[in-house]
Amino acid sequence: MNDIKNIRFRTQRLRTSSALRSITSETRLSVDNLILPVFLKSGTNLKIEIKAMPNFYQLSIEKGIEEISSAVDLGIKSFILFGIPSSKDEIGSSAFSDDGVIQLALQRIKKQFPDILIITDLCMCEYTSHGHCGVINNNVLDNDATLELLNKQALTHAQHGSDVIAPSGMIDGAVDSLRNHLDENGFKNLPILSYSAKYASSFYGPFREAAESSPEFGDRKTYQMNPANKREAIREILQDIDEGADIVMVKPALSYLDVINEIRSKVSIPIAAYSVSGEYAMIKAASSLGWIDEDSARNELLLSIKRAGADMIITYFAKDFARYENENK
Ligand code: PBG
Repeated sequence: MNDIKNIRFRTQRLRTSSALRSITSETRLSVDNLILPVFLKSGTNLKIEIKAMPNFYQLSIEKGIEEISSAVDLGIKSFILFGIPSSKDEIGSSAFSDDGVIQLALQRIKKQFPDILIITDLCMCEYTSHGHCGVINNNVLDNDATLELLNKQALTHAQHGSDVIAPSGMIDGAVDSLRNHLDENGFKNLPILSYSAKYASSFYGPFREAAESSPEFGDRKTYQMNPANKREAIREILQDIDEGADIVMVKPALSYLDVINEIRSKVSIPIAAYSVSGEYAMIKAASSLGWIDEDSARNELLLSIKRAGADMIITYFAKDFARYENENK
């Protein structure tokens, strides 16, 4: 009995009420730090269901604007746009056309919602006939030839009103090349959010259906990172910062919290994390079967990413969380 009396420091004391738990909470989620992905498809009046991503659709521009509008009403301020073109070719030329789906959408969205943040994903995989993230020569990705295409794509995004350019292809030297190209063309203040440490992950499965971007042959293991590596992620991140990245990203989030955490201790610039389609699909699927409580599992997932050190999270749960936050104020 004596022993029990001697427990002076009882950690449970600070957990006895909701108010105590709240005031001692070390990490807080807010819709302010969430970014909602939107898939925009060339065409009109389209709303095409994405099976493995409940509540997500390929939307034509006017439907996409409705989606953005409903998210803005919930308090969401940041979006990342992915484009699905009407035609694809070897070099993904619709990615840098002035009347490409992203370019047209940007103009209209910025006009209607001048104050929201529109990030544009910069990659070739949705636009190339082979589905790889750049130029293919002899069945391999030609890194250096891809740089030029990314420059063109970025400049059209900038000219049409993108607020942040987000290269996602893991192309070496992309940040440096984009920074120079944007600066030379009058976009010195346009930030680059680099998908610096992007792993070759199985958790992208549902997205590839959403963005119609599965590779026709092979995989992305020659340019995306090996899931086994953490030191290499640090090197990727430091390299991108050196090249001029303003924000760096780790992707996916859930299986790579250790990577986010380690990077947080090493760099001072903002860190983004991408909670990818597979993370969303797992929780949605389990909750639809009644196997998991969606609200609390989702909140725990997002909280863990923030606790690991991410400042902002790209998440398909942005609207669900915003709704929850509004209802639980
Ligand atoms: C394109 C890109 C991918 C994702 C975002 N941008 C897929 C890929 O590399 O195959 C994945 C996003 C997700 O799964 O939610 N390069």
